[in-house]
Amino acid sequence: MMLLLLSLSACQVKETKLQPVNIIPQPNELTQQAGEFIINAETVVCLLSETDAADVLLDNLRLASGYPLKVVNEEIAKNAIVFKIEAGGFNNDEAYSLSVTKEKVLVKAKSAKGIFIATQTLRQLLPVNLEEAKLSEVKWSVPCVEIKDAPRFAWRGMHMDVSRHFFSVDYIKRFLDYMALYKMNTFHWHLTDDQGWRIEIKKYPELTQNGAFRTFNNHDKVCIERSKDNPAMAIPEKYMSEKDGEKVYGGYYTQEEIKEVIAYAAKRNITIVPEIDMPGHFKAAIDNYPEVSCFGKAGWGQTFSAPLCAGNEATYQLVEDILTEVAELFPSEYIHIGADEVEKTNWKKCPKCQKRIKKEKLHDEHELQSYFVHRIEKFLNGKGKRMIGWDEILEGGMSPTATMMFWRGWVPDAPVKAAKQGNDVIMSPTSHCYFDYGQNSGTLENVYGFEPVPEGLSAEEQKRIIGGQGNIWTEYIPSEAQVDFMSMPRMIALAEVLWTPADQKDWQDFFQRIGNHFNRLDVMKVNYRFPDIGGVYDQHVFVDKAKVEFTSQVKDAEIRYTTDGTRPTNESNLYSGPIEISENITLKARPFSKLGNGGDVIEATFTKTTYAKGIELPADAKPGLACDYYEGKRWKGVADIGVVDTKKKSVVTKAFELPEVAVKKGTSYALTYNGYFYADKDDVYTFSLLCDDAGVLKIADLIVVDNDGMHAPLKKIGQVALAKGWHPIELKYVEGGGGGTLKLTSADADGQFKPIVSELLKH
Ligand code: ACM
Ligand code: ZN
Repeated sequence: MMLLLLSLSACQVKETKLQPVNIIPQPNELTQQAGEFIINAETVVCLLSETDAADVLLDNLRLASGYPLKVVNEEIAKNAIVFKIEAGGFNNDEAYSLSVTKEKVLVKAKSAKGIFIATQTLRQLLPVNLEEAKLSEVKWSVPCVEIKDAPRFAWRGMHMDVSRHFFSVDYIKRFLDYMALYKMNTFHWHLTDDQGWRIEIKKYPELTQNGAFRTFNNHDKVCIERSKDNPAMAIPEKYMSEKDGEKVYGGYYTQEEIKEVIAYAAKRNITIVPEIDMPGHFKAAIDNYPEVSCFGKAGWGQTFSAPLCAGNEATYQLVEDILTEVAELFPSEYIHIGADEVEKTNWKKCPKCQKRIKKEKLHDEHELQSYFVHRIEKFLNGKGKRMIGWDEILEGGMSPTATMMFWRGWVPDAPVKAAKQGNDVIMSPTSHCYFDYGQNSGTLENVYGFEPVPEGLSAEEQKRIIGGQGNIWTEYIPSEAQVDFMSMPRMIALAEVLWTPADQKDWQDFFQRIGNHFNRLDVMKVNYRFPDIGGVYDQHVFVDKAKVEFTSQVKDAEIRYTTDGTRPTNESNLYSGPIEISENITLKARPFSKLGNGGDVIEATFTKTTYAKGIELPADAKPGLACDYYEGKRWKGVADIGVVDTKKKSVVTKAFELPEVAVKKGTSYALTYNGYFYADKDDVYTFSLLCDDAGVLKIADLIVVDNDGMHAPLKKIGQVALAKGWHPIELKYVEGGGGGTLKLTSADADGQFKPIVSELLKH
C-alpha cells in the first residue's frame, strides 16, 4: 500500500494519531499529513479553468453545510478550494492530483473528467452527512493528504438488465450515483430482451406499447414465492397495470427520459452504452413484428427464444431502423448488439436462412450468425459507432474492429484469442463479475481477487484488455432494493480491481477500508448486503473452554444470537461481550444495522475434544505434497473423485497450490493432495478453505473444513485440536467448470490467515 504516514516530529507528538483515510479505489499515491482543511462560511471556490465538473460535489456541499462557497476565477491563497485543468503532468484524462493542506484544497487534472474523479475522492474524505441532502451541523473538514492518481483500465463498467425486471428513471440515477462514488465510468444498459422492450422507438410504437408489458412469468412466480420471507423480492405494485382486463407487469423509458438519464450520467463522468440484444433474445419485439422471424411467429426453441430470421431482408430493415434511433439518442462511441445465446434450430430449417447461407457461401449457421453480426457492425460504423458483442461473436469469425465482451467463464481462451487477433476485449466473466449470482462469506474476496488480464498475452496484446464490468441480470431481482443488495458491496470491490494497479491491491487492507464505507451507504439508504459477522468460524473445537468475540465491519451494528437452533430475530439475545462456551452447542448469530437492515445468519458449531496424537513420519518422507489430478465431468462432490473420472496424473506440489496440469486445463478437473502437516505445539489449529466448487480438508483423519458440493466461491473455516508432531493431511477438491478457486490458509497467532508454508508439509 502506498499509505505513507509521515513521521511526526517531537513537537507534533501531542496531536492525536492520524485517523486513517479510507478511499476506495485505493489511490496510486497517497501521503497523509497531520491536520485538516476546514470548510466554513468564508471558504471560496477558485475555478481557474472553465468547467462544471465540480458542480455536483459543490451543490451537495452547499446544501449540506449551508455555506455559500462563492465561486471566483482567480487563485486565492487561503481558505480556498481550487480547481485547475492543466495539460502537464498527467498522461490520462481521468488522472488527477489532490493536495489538501490546512490552507487550501488544490485539485488539478488534465481534463474535466479528472476534475470530476477528484471530487469523488474529496466526497469520500468529507463527513458522511454530505450524502443526506439536507443541512447538517457537523465540522466540514478534509484530512490533509497529497494524492496522485490515475486508473488502471479505461472501461470500468456496470451492466444492468432492465428487461427481465424494470427499474425507474429515479433508481437508474441513484445507481449512477453509486457508480460515480467509486469512479466507475460506463453504464451498460441492457434495454431489450425476451421479457420486455424498454426503449421507446418512434418508428415502431408497438415495441413499447405492447412489448414493454407482460403477464407474470415463471421468474415472477419465483420472486413472489421468495417475497414471503424477504420483502426485497416482492414485485413493486408501481410496475403493475391493467391491459385488456388482465394484470400486467412492465414499463419503458421514453426517449426524453433516456436523454435525461444520459445527461445525468455525463455530469458524473459516466458514459451510457445501450444494448439492443439480437438476433436472439428478441422475443419481446418479434411478438409484435412476427414477420421478422423464420416462421412468422415468436416462441421458444430448445434452449433460447426463436431468433430473428437472418435470411429475411425485412429483419435488417427493422433492426437498422431501431439502431438508427438508438445511435441518434446515445452519444456513446459504442453500441452493444448482444449476439449471445442464439438458438439456431429455426435457421437450420428456414428456407430464407438456408438460401442466405448458399448465396453468401457460408459453411453453417455459425457463419450465418457471423454474417448477421458483420452486417450490423458495418451499418453501425456507417453511423460513426463501434460495435460490441458478447463473446459468441468470436464463433464463425469476428471482424477486426469489433469489441468483445467476455462472459462465458467456461470458455477461458475466448478473450485470449480475441486479444491476439487484435480485438479489444472487456472482461465480465461469470466467475467473478455476475452480480446476480448468490452471495456468501467468500463472495467479496473472490470479486476482489479478479485479475482482468488473462494469462498468455504479450505486453502489447494485454493492451487489448480495455477493462472489466459487473453484470446484473434481473430474472430474480424484481426490486430496486434487491439490485442494491446484489450489487453492493460487490461493485465496490470491482471498482478497486479496475482502478488500482494490480501490485497495490491488498485484500486485508481493502477489508479494513470498506468497513468505513458502510456508514456512508447507510446514510445514502443503500440496501447493501450486510457483511458477515467476524470472530466466529463454521466449526470450532475446544479442549477446555472456548470464547467467542463477535466483530462487525459496520460501526454501531447490533448482533443478536441464539443457542437453541432458532433463527435470530431483532429480539433475540443482544451480544454485549465475549461469550464463554464449555459444552457442545450450535450458535446462530445475525447482525442488524441502525436502520434495521439485517444480515445473513451465521451458524457455528462448538465441539469439545482432545488433542489428536501425532504420528511417526515415514523415514523416506520428502518435502511437498503428493497431488493426484483427475479429469472428468459428472462430479457432484469430492466423493465422486476416482469414481467417475477419465484420466489421472500424479505430481508433487510444494504446498496447496494448483499444479501446472490443472492450470492449463482450466475447465473441469479434480485434485487430491496427501501428505503430513507439522503442528509445532499442542493447540487448536484453524483453517480456512475458499473453493469453487467442492473442497474437503481432513487432518488426523478428522474433517476440519467441509466445503463439499458444487458451488460458487464459498469460504468455510474449521478447527482441529492437534498434539505437537506430524499429522496426516488430505485435501480433496473438484472444479466443475466455469472458473475455479482454491485457497487454503491457516490462522497465525494473531488470527491472520496465511497460506500454509511448505516447511510444515511433507509427503
Ligand atoms: C449473457 O450472460 N447471456 C451474456
Ligand atoms: Zn430464417
